[in-house]
Amino acid sequence: MRAIKLNGFGGPEVMTWGEAPDPKPGHAEVLIDVVAAGVNRADLLQRQGYYSPPPGSSEIMGLECSGVIAEVGEGVRDWQVGDRVCALMSGGGYAERVVVPAAQLLPVPQDFDLGAAAGLPEVAATVWSNLVMTAGLRAGQLVLIHGGGSGIGTHAIQVAVQRGARVAVTAGSPEKLQRCKELGATVLINYRDDDFVAAVRRETSGAGGPGADIILDNMGAAYLARNVDALAAHGHLVIIGMQGGVTAELNLGALLAKWGTVHATNVRGRPASGPHSKAEIIAEVRAQLWPLVTDGAIVPVIHAELPIAEAADAHRLLESSEAFGKVTLRVRD
Ligand SMILES: NC(=O)c1ccc[n+]([C@@H]2O[C@H](COP(=O)([O-])OP(=O)(O)OC[C@H]3O[C@@H](n4cnc5c(N)ncnc54)[C@H](OP(=O)(O)O)[C@@H]3O)[C@@H](O)[C@H]2O)c1
Repeated sequence: MRAIKLNGFGGPEVMTWGEAPDPKPGHAEVLIDVVAAGVNRADLLQRQGYYSPPPGSSEIMGLECSGVIAEVGEGVRDWQVGDRVCALMSGGGYAERVVVPAAQLLPVPQDFDLGAAAGLPEVAATVWSNLVMTAGLRAGQLVLIHGGGSGIGTHAIQVAVQRGARVAVTAGSPEKLQRCKELGATVLINYRDDDFVAAVRRETSGAGGPGADIILDNMGAAYLARNVDALAAHGHLVIIGMQGGVTAELNLGALLAKWGTVHATNVRGRPASGPHSKAEIIAEVRAQLWPLVTDGAIVPVIHAELPIAEAADAHRLLESSEAFGKVTLRVRD
């Protein structure tokens, strides 16, 4: 098969499209003929040498894909050759073929675009596991989503709205904020000009305790203190990205005074099965979120789909901050 390979670590130019060994499915795994692969910010870090795959994972980039099952391994009962699927992975998506644990598959209905489905597994698993399974998102809550125009953000807005929450977002331009509004966000904060702590407090003044009940954060250290300030009583700050650094001081007094909780989580490093695993998240996603996706209540937000051979341009696009939503790579028609 062919795959995107890394000739050392560095800029987008280290990626080349060439021959790679064909993977074979083992016990409880399936082989997928990949139709499209999603691009994630984590891939940019992996390309630069800052985010190695977990032990035992493919060295090829790609945390999600869509396609058709080409072969099923021993012990797989619920899936057949020819099934249209999308998959959450620890790696391997930037390729013509990939092996995935069957428990990490989601079904793609006949009338659903397989190309667009490639942009869903990573955001669905990340958003559902953090907003719902970790932070306990409920109707009527205020959720602050940093980076509302990101792949994660565009999905998180829709999930929160569907669960009956009110959504505040930060983004870096009025155009992106307008598009977040179209997805259902009602508190629009330009992080370049506005103070998100003040904006969230203004929105919730008069409520039980001013602030956001849940904050989904991509900035890490740079926003830690202000995120704690922006939390409501009993609020949950869920850190999933460290675009603003890894080390910061936490004022425990401020957190304690509002009975707050800080979580920091990742999906990729979770075990394939067992407690807190990818399989557990995908089972929840399939049971609760997937019906909203297949009914069209939650839509994939795809900024651009590029041919896989142009993966370098796809990385440049994500780095440019021009994208609203996901960037995907087309592997075959
Ligand atoms: N922990 C996990 O399991 C997990 C899984 C998936 C993703 N993530 C993390 O989630 C984040 C989003 O991932 P993605 O793939 O969706 O990324 P993406 O589409 O590349 O988006 C990155 C976002 O960062 C925003 N941003 C930049 N500076 C900001 C600031 N000062 N304040 C608020 N937002 C700012 C950008 O907003 P503008 O374009 O408006 O400037 C952009 O929307 C990343 O940090 C990624 O590492 C974590």
